[in-house]
Amino acid sequence: MSRDLKRSGRSGRSGRTGRAARAAPLTVRVLIARGARRLTRARVCFGHGTDNAWDESAGLTLHALRLAHRGGAALYRRRVSAAAAARAAELIGRRNAERVTAPYLTGVTWFAGLEFAVDRRVLVPRSPLAELIERGFAPWADAGGVRRVLDLGTGSGCIAIACARALPKARVDAVDISAAALEVARLNVRRHRLGRRVRVKRSDHFSALGKAAYDIIVANPPYVGARELKRLPPEYRHEPRVALAAGALGLDSVAVILREAGAHLRPRGLLVVEVGNTEGAVRRAYPRLPFLWLHFARGGGGVFLLTREQLVAH
Ligand SMILES: C[S@@+](CC[C@H](N)C(=O)[O-])C[C@H]1O[C@@H](n2cnc3c(N)ncnc32)[C@H](O)[C@@H]1O
Repeated sequence: MSRDLKRSGRSGRSGRTGRAARAAPLTVRVLIARGARRLTRARVCFGHGTDNAWDESAGLTLHALRLAHRGGAALYRRRVSAAAAARAAELIGRRNAERVTAPYLTGVTWFAGLEFAVDRRVLVPRSPLAELIERGFAPWADAGGVRRVLDLGTGSGCIAIACARALPKARVDAVDISAAALEVARLNVRRHRLGRRVRVKRSDHFSALGKAAYDIIVANPPYVGARELKRLPPEYRHEPRVALAAGALGLDSVAVILREAGAHLRPRGLLVVEVGNTEGAVRRAYPRLPFLWLHFARGGGGVFLLTREQLVAH
C-alpha cells in the first residue's frame, strides 16, 4: 500500500487566495492521509493486522467508503462525496476515542492471505504462524502427506482454515474452550466452504478429543502473564481475556499442551506452538526440552517446534 503522504490535499478553508485557495478534490488518497495523520496524533497502538498509521487508515477509510482493497492507483484517485468522507472521519474518530482495533470496527481481517470475519468474541488474528502454514509447514512436514491436524485454541478458526487450505489432504479439528469463539469459527468455516474438512468442537485443551492422534498439532494458546496483562495497551483490553491470560507467568496453557500433546501425536508428528514473548519463561521452565525456535521472514517469533519423539523422551 502506498505511504505517500505528501499529497495530503489541504482544503481552501485555510483562507489563502488564488489557486492555492481552491479546495483540493476530495479523493480516497486525501481521506486516507487525513485519517493517518489523526491516528498518529492520537498515538493509537498498532499490531492487530497493521503496524503503521497509513495502512490502518486505509483499512478503515476503504471500509467506510465501501470500497474493496483492489483497484491500484486508480482507487486512490477516486473522488469521494462529502457524506462518504464524513463516514470515514467518524470511523477514524471511533478508533481514536474508543481505542478499538480496526478489525473489530470493520468486522474483517486477513490471515495467510485469507479473509476472516472477526468480532470481540475472538482474538484478532495476527500470528506469525501464518507464514509457516502458507508454506505447508515446510521443511518439517510434507504438505501432501499430512492427514490430520489439530488447531488447539482456534478462536476465529484462522489457523485451522489456513491449514486446510495449505494441506489439501488434511482433515482439521478446530477446538476452543470458548463457545462464543466457536460461533465465529463456524461462520468462517462456512464462508470458506470447508465444512467437510474442518470440524469445530468445544474442548478444554485435549479433553474432548478422546484418543485422536494427529500429524500436526498447532496452537496459539493464551500466553500472557499477569504482570504483562496489566501493562497491555487499551486496544488489547477489547479482546477476550480467555484468549490472552495464562496465569502468573503465562505458562498455564503451554504446560498442559507440553504434558498432553505427546499422547495425541502420530509417530514423527509435530507440535508447533506460539508463545510470543513468553519464550524466555518457557525456556527457563523446560530447560531439558530440545525446542526448535522458528524464524520468520515476515517478522514475529516466539514459536517452537517439537517432534512427538522429543516430547515423549522428555
Ligand atoms: C491467543 S488466542 C488464539 C486464537 C487463534 N488461534 C488465533 O491465532 O488468532 C487463544 C485461544 O485459545 C482459547 N483457549 C483458552 N483456553 C483454552 C483451553 N483451556 N482450551 C482450549 N482453548 C482455549 C481461547 O478461547 C482463544 O480463542
